[in-house]
Amino acid sequence: MFMGNEVISPADVGKHYDEQSPIGDELRDGQLHMWYWYDEDDGAPLTEAVHRISRKVTGTMGLRAGEHVLDAGCGPGATAVYLADTFGVQVTGITVSAFELKKAKSRAAAAGVSDMVRFQYGDYTELTYPDESFDAVLALESLQNAPDPRQVFKEFFRVLRPGGRVSFSDFSLESSSDPQRVAKFMASLKLHTLPTLAEWLDHARSAGFEIEEYTQCGPRVFGRKAKYLKAAMGRRQEVATKFGEDAVAGFSQSHLGFFAPRKHQIGYVIVSARKPRR
Ligand SMILES: C[S@@+](CC[C@H](N)C(=O)[O-])C[C@H]1O[C@@H](n2cnc3c(N)ncnc32)[C@H](O)[C@@H]1O
Repeated sequence: MFMGNEVISPADVGKHYDEQSPIGDELRDGQLHMWYWYDEDDGAPLTEAVHRISRKVTGTMGLRAGEHVLDAGCGPGATAVYLADTFGVQVTGITVSAFELKKAKSRAAAAGVSDMVRFQYGDYTELTYPDESFDAVLALESLQNAPDPRQVFKEFFRVLRPGGRVSFSDFSLESSSDPQRVAKFMASLKLHTLPTLAEWLDHARSAGFEIEEYTQCGPRVFGRKAKYLKAAMGRRQEVATKFGEDAVAGFSQSHLGFFAPRKHQIGYVIVSARKPRR
């Protein structure tokens, strides 16, 4: 596992997303996560490519209408709205970003699902919810910011009912042959750690979860970074008109490290696990 050098507080992480999320939200239709393209000729637009990740990850959860889902690290709310709309579940979304919280609430209101979805400021390392109060937990590319993912899995285990599920997706370390590139990647995203797939599975197991499904689809995710760059550049002028040239230049600058690793170095894992029934 790669460890970052910096100590990054939830407030620092929140500030990072306050700065990054507005343009990210615009480019990726409210979903601040990666994309999935089958191959270089795949003509799906960026917004469809990011929706594919939402569908793939949440599709592992086996959700049923009426269940209560914790969306831990909910971003600007599009995934929570999708869950309520598609599966008829209640969703509590938490984030450490003030921008995301505001945006998520207005997105749910605009979609007419405010009665099913609530958003709160919250830190997943210290959840304020009672034991066994959720049927499922989703952590879609949010554990990457955790100082110690094992502590967060403990909290997820505590708030899930017996038989409840956790599904998460995140980056994994596939090759540490070029550590400087990986370090730049981690710094650009405020990552504390970059576990391998095996380490991610161990982290979840250490809290008591039983792994039921996992995949590593990095070649179709980080491996398609050139397609993302092309799609984002195609909207540069439009985004600059809306947010200003300085904001777009700052956004681009802060992403340089993200693109530093070679394609095969960064994987993408999707994992689904269960809290054993008593
Ligand atoms: C890469 S974004 C993903 C957002 C969202 N899941 C999505 O896919 O659009 C990471 C998210 O994790 C959240 N996050 C990071 N650290 C957190 C913490 N300690 N507690 C709660 N949320 C956190 C951020 O606020 C942000 O919403």
